[in-house]
Amino acid sequence: MEEFIAKLRDDHSDFNKGSLDDRIKATDPMLLFQKWYKEAFERNCAEPHAMVISTVNSEMQPSSRTVYMKELLEEGIVFYTNYESQKGQEILSNPKVSVLFYWDCLERQIRINGIAEKAPDELADDYFASRPRESQLGAWASAQSQAIKDRDALDKAFQEAEVRFEGKSVPRPPFWGGFLIRPSYFEFWQGRPNRLHDRICFHRVNEDEWDVHRKNP
Ligand SMILES: Cc1cc2nc3c(=O)[nH]c(=O)nc-3n(C[C@H](O)[C@H](O)[C@H](O)COP(=O)(O)O)c2cc1C
Repeated sequence: MEEFIAKLRDDHSDFNKGSLDDRIKATDPMLLFQKWYKEAFERNCAEPHAMVISTVNSEMQPSSRTVYMKELLEEGIVFYTNYESQKGQEILSNPKVSVLFYWDCLERQIRINGIAEKAPDELADDYFASRPRESQLGAWASAQSQAIKDRDALDKAFQEAEVRFEGKSVPRPPFWGGFLIRPSYFEFWQGRPNRLHDRICFHRVNEDEWDVHRKNP
């Protein structure tokens, strides 16, 4: 067997960067999420805003991919994408999503389940306007998730967008915008020695009430 495959079994390193006191059960999970994100940001964790989002299609097949959290609002988190992409279409027909953040630098993982909805147009307009022009043109050029003949066809679509908007500002495409995920479940995971990790879970009961418990690792 090749060494890099055989080595898969050899990683027995322990987790020892922190612990979760049961007292955090009294915290609002959205505030705790913000606190953890702030810590990941301040510790210069790599891409702390990168999150894996899973969607489920009409045949109950889940799909996962990485996106960037771009807004952290009181009511939830927002990412931007093409509404006609696979994820966009899946969310529009089944808004139940699952999100995962993993911050190796802190040995922390956060699972979030929630309901996604289109974010307000003004928010998307504002964010789109702040993007580099090339990214704006890229949004027009890419029929995200659709099959395309070859790389040349994609580069050609980009050039066409350049010509189309030459000398003008690039408007937000009607098929591109944000999804706001309103959390209904959070799990905060902190790695601990001997695989006895801490897991504190919050299930939403109503607007401002959460059912909280610790889970076995
Ligand atoms: C680090 C990283 C960040 C990404 N951020 C986004 C994003 O914010 N929005 C997006 O639509 N795709 C983003 N992507 C690309 C997606 O992972 C995915 O390939 C694309 O959205 C198409 O997914 P879909 O066909 O399942 O809809 C990112 C990929 C990586 C690796």
